[in-house]
Amino acid sequence: MSLSRLLLSPPACRDPEALRAAVAGRPVLVTGASSGIGEAAARQLGAAGAEVLLLARRAERLEEVAADICARGGRAHVYPADLADPEAVRAVAARIGAEHPDLWAVVSNAGKSVRRPALEGAARDDLGRLLAVNFSGPAALLLGLLPGLVRRGGVIVNVSSVSARHVGAPRWGAYQGSKAGFDLWLHALGTEVRGQGVRVASVYLPLVQTPMSAPTRAYRFLPALSADEAAHAALLPLVRPVLRVAPWWLRPVEVAGLLAPGLLASGLARLEEAERRWSRR
Ligand SMILES: NC(=O)c1ccc[n+]([C@@H]2O[C@H](COP(=O)([O-])OP(=O)(O)OC[C@H]3O[C@@H](n4cnc5c(N)ncnc54)[C@H](OP(=O)(O)O)[C@@H]3O)[C@@H](O)[C@H]2O)c1
Repeated sequence: MSLSRLLLSPPACRDPEALRAAVAGRPVLVTGASSGIGEAAARQLGAAGAEVLLLARRAERLEEVAADICARGGRAHVYPADLADPEAVRAVAARIGAEHPDLWAVVSNAGKSVRRPALEGAARDDLGRLLAVNFSGPAALLLGLLPGLVRRGGVIVNVSSVSARHVGAPRWGAYQGSKAGFDLWLHALGTEVRGQGVRVASVYLPLVQTPMSAPTRAYRFLPALSADEAAHAALLPLVRPVLRVAPWWLRPVEVAGLLAPGLLASGLARLEEAERRWSRR
């Protein structure tokens, strides 16, 4: 790992034996397992002996990942579903609950990002689409699975973004709003189910090289984690009872956002302007 990555990386579970000790033989659901961080997390869980349940829309991609996990001696099952479709979410939650009544953990990772000026985004219903995939869909899925998790105790991991914790950034409103809203909702739920043996944790990731971040040209020059490195961080709450996993610099950024929100907002607006000028060249 390069020095810049080392400085940027959140704490992570890089010890396969520690992961095996925590998850072997236990059913773990990973949403968004057809690509990027979710796929990497599903593969790491499969290699560590978990029974991996893979959820996303693309059934063939899920079948490929599951076949690969099984070919390496693991166990995996696919659950194709669109989190933006409330009926599909209800059905898949019921199916998972019936087929895996001993479900132990959910890695809520599926998500979508859009970076667009707010008025352009309004014409394409960015906010509605992102709220469905990043907030209401995952929330409905968790509520469907919650009675089982509460019965036996379990862990819910939210794969979130550092941007859910810092001040609003230009063109990121729909993404930041949906990620921050879900995160707050989940931690409120966490306080309700804490006494019933269900643990909730959020993993606030910095930039990660995946199909999600690839379209943003400016990101190609920034340090970023690989999907595997991000998955190591995403799985840490399965191994340790942490409430939050984040790179070391997120706390100072959050404090700066409280103490000097105007300064940060104008800094972000300037960066945006500089990037616009650069991309017009
Ligand atoms: N990449 C980054 O820089 C970064 C940074 C911080 C946080 N994150 C977070 O990390 C998570 C994973 O992102 P990624 O970078 O790995 O992105 P990705 O490669 O684009 O993967 C997104 C996953 O979500 C699934 N998904 C999208 N819409 C869905 C829907 N309607 N129903 C069910 N599944 C759906 C996709 O599968 P299908 O298309 O098959 O449905 C895919 O498996 C996201 O929550 C993202 O916000 C990413």
